[in-house]
Amino acid sequence: MRREATLIRGDGIGPEITQATLQVLEALGAQFDWDEQYGGVTAIEKAGTPLPDATLESVRRTGLALKGPLTTPLGGGYRSVTVALRQEFELYANVRPVKSIVPGGKFPDVDLVVIRENVEGLYVGIDRTFKVGDDPKALAQTMSVMTRDGCRRIVRYAFEYARKHGRKKVTVVHKANILKATSGLFLETARQVAEGYEGRIAVDEKIVDNAAMQLVINPAQFDVIVTTNLFGDILSDEASGLVGGLGLAPGANVGETAAIFEPVHGSAPDIAGQGIANPAAQLLAAAMMLDHVEELDAAARLRCALELAIVKDNVRTRDLGGSASTAEFARAVARRL
Ligand code: NAI
Ligand code: MG
Repeated sequence: MRREATLIRGDGIGPEITQATLQVLEALGAQFDWDEQYGGVTAIEKAGTPLPDATLESVRRTGLALKGPLTTPLGGGYRSVTVALRQEFELYANVRPVKSIVPGGKFPDVDLVVIRENVEGLYVGIDRTFKVGDDPKALAQTMSVMTRDGCRRIVRYAFEYARKHGRKKVTVVHKANILKATSGLFLETARQVAEGYEGRIAVDEKIVDNAAMQLVINPAQFDVIVTTNLFGDILSDEASGLVGGLGLAPGANVGETAAIFEPVHGSAPDIAGQGIANPAAQLLAAAMMLDHVEELDAAARLRCALELAIVKDNVRTRDLGGSASTAEFARAVARRL
């Protein structure tokens, strides 16, 4: 079955890693009809705005997008297009799998997924300073907002993800001992959701500071981690650092009506245009997209080919200590399909 999907190649190395990914998907026989749209700097050049209406309309129609990294100016300038897309389509689940692929790393047996609540908590944007006397910033205050529905849908998403992907355990990460209302609501709701999976998927609870420590001591104990926005932001970066970094880290932003798949890394302006970027994170993002549309076989074949290219054929880009170009790596993956 052919599916329409939005394609945003992105800025910097985005077009290079996306081209490599399209070639591998072609070799895989994956059936996407791409509706190419623009975002970020590329969109400013083409349409005069970082997030054109046509891009939003396309994602609204297809509900499915593969996206490259987009450059966000520091300090001033426009706000992050990636964050704007998450809010626009209420992409409440941020899914980041972390797996040891390259041999010889510090942790050879990591295979976990961080599922982070993506729209509530401390990221709702109520964050301000107050003037006292003549100090304009004498006091700063932020607010975390969590809803029972928001907690329920992210925990449910995590358990359903575990069920679909044959995972055995969900670890609920919280700080309910201190944040009794917000984190307490998350934990209470998580326990209720977990009851529905009793006997099928194990549940474990960890306080976030202990979870952070356990991740660097014994990451292999984790399977699926579900947590609130800020904790998930921090733990998912920590986890990807355990297995060789950004070149291998894919992510998905999933909501009820749309899902956007992308590498975790940015547009890497320092190596853009040189043909040396590692396309693996974007390839793994495409594999997540195939999972999402229930093409589980194609997704598994893609992951397997990528691992064989790295491990058996020893084809690696520079960030992984090799010398292969972006295109050479893509060809090696395609050969393994
Ligand atoms: P970055 O992830 O672009 O680069 C960090 C370092 O990792 C650089 O040395 C880069 O060369 C290297 N790197 C990243 N991806 C690589 C790959 N596939 N292969 C080989 N090496 C790779 O982070 P940075 O420099 O902080 O951000 C650059 C731009 O990207 C900024 O404008 C930032 O706002 C944007 N960004 C966009 C994201 C998105 O669209 N989701 C996410 C993160 C950053
Ligand atoms: Mg982050």
